[in-house]
Amino acid sequence: MNKLKYALIGCGRISKWHVEAVANNSDDMVMVGACDIVKESAVEKAEIYRSFIKDGEVKTYNDYKEMLEKEDIDIVSIATESGYHPEIAIYCMNKGKHVIVEKPMALSTKDADDMIETARRNNVKLCVSHQNRFNKVIQQLRSAVEGDRFGRLVNSMASIRWNRNMGYYEQAPWRGTWELDGGTLMNQCIHDIDLLQWMMGGEVESVYSQTGNYLRDIAAEDFGAIVIRFKNGAVGIIEGSACVYPKNLEETLSIFGEKGAVVIGGLAVNRIETWRFADGLDNEEKILKQQEGDPDTVYGHGHTPLFKDMIEAIKNNREPLISGVEGKKGMEIILAAYKSQKTGMPVKFPMGEFSTLEMKEANIRVR
Ligand SMILES: NC(=O)c1ccc[n+]([C@@H]2O[C@H](COP(=O)([O-])OP(=O)(O)OC[C@H]3O[C@@H](n4cnc5c(N)ncnc54)[C@H](O)[C@@H]3O)[C@@H](O)[C@H]2O)c1
Repeated sequence: MNKLKYALIGCGRISKWHVEAVANNSDDMVMVGACDIVKESAVEKAEIYRSFIKDGEVKTYNDYKEMLEKEDIDIVSIATESGYHPEIAIYCMNKGKHVIVEKPMALSTKDADDMIETARRNNVKLCVSHQNRFNKVIQQLRSAVEGDRFGRLVNSMASIRWNRNMGYYEQAPWRGTWELDGGTLMNQCIHDIDLLQWMMGGEVESVYSQTGNYLRDIAAEDFGAIVIRFKNGAVGIIEGSACVYPKNLEETLSIFGEKGAVVIGGLAVNRIETWRFADGLDNEEKILKQQEGDPDTVYGHGHTPLFKDMIEAIKNNREPLISGVEGKKGMEIILAAYKSQKTGMPVKFPMGEFSTLEMKEANIRVR
């Protein structure tokens, strides 16, 4: 297969990890375009690419439709504000492009379904950027789940005890808005929520939540607690905060079963803290000692294997690990949590249509 011709749409904070991922997959992929409505941001990302790939030639644009018209492109990644993901992804897929879209893929169940359907109709691949699924220790945990080492799953917990101060929200005014982002559950906590549901089998029966806005001057929630009942009977508990004083504390995932207990912590779910199984197949002390330290960024370096998986999916005409259907699952749990906050009731699945916009008048401010 010839190298896939790649273009980036949305050249802000996260996008340099996309550029790095393309450069790290340079045997299979070449960057040909970068687009941002702020042209300098596109130019900056093109330069980052050239710092990795010396003879790389990247054309820069401020209109993605024009870029798709003028350049020969096989695949795009979309790293704009979340609320713009559906429209841009659907446009690109209708032009026959494969799409990697940042999390959350959309802010409503309907938009997510439309994206999945558009990918199917155009026979292109759609992948959602939940890169933490590729963390080494998360892969190790997933193998333990797949190998049925836990026996009956009982409960799981995702604790996202982070800090996002007003400076973070002021840096980009779309953050914390219902139109373009959602609150800390939808923006920061979605990674760990995705991991929790992936480990617990992904089939949700009901979701109950208490969310609110406590400290940050934004429209959406800065703290949320969620209880999920999965179809297999297991329970998931989520505690998600952007308010932990005075800085990020931890992102932890705990899984407990009849014959196993695993806790993965660190700054962003990349360090094993507990690894105990009845089968005696491995030695906890040795596993704890052998692991690497925290990565240099909370984003980790999972975009590189995520892009690689997408390349393999295209080559072999299979679904990427985090397809649209997979990417929707964590997002849908969060939308259910919002709906539960709004109605004061548990939300049964299938939950039907819901959008962050329906929270505009429903969020609680705790002052
Ligand atoms: N996977 C992760 O770990 C991770 C981490 C941070 C952010 N994100 C996600 O990535 C997305 C972007 O976040 P960010 O922090 O980089 O935001 P940002 O505000 O820094 O960047 C967004 C960029 O998109 C550009 N843009 C907007 N509309 C556009 C259009 N029509 N065409 C081209 N460019 C356009 C903006 O000008 C801006 O430069 C969000 O969805 C966010 O949730 C993911």
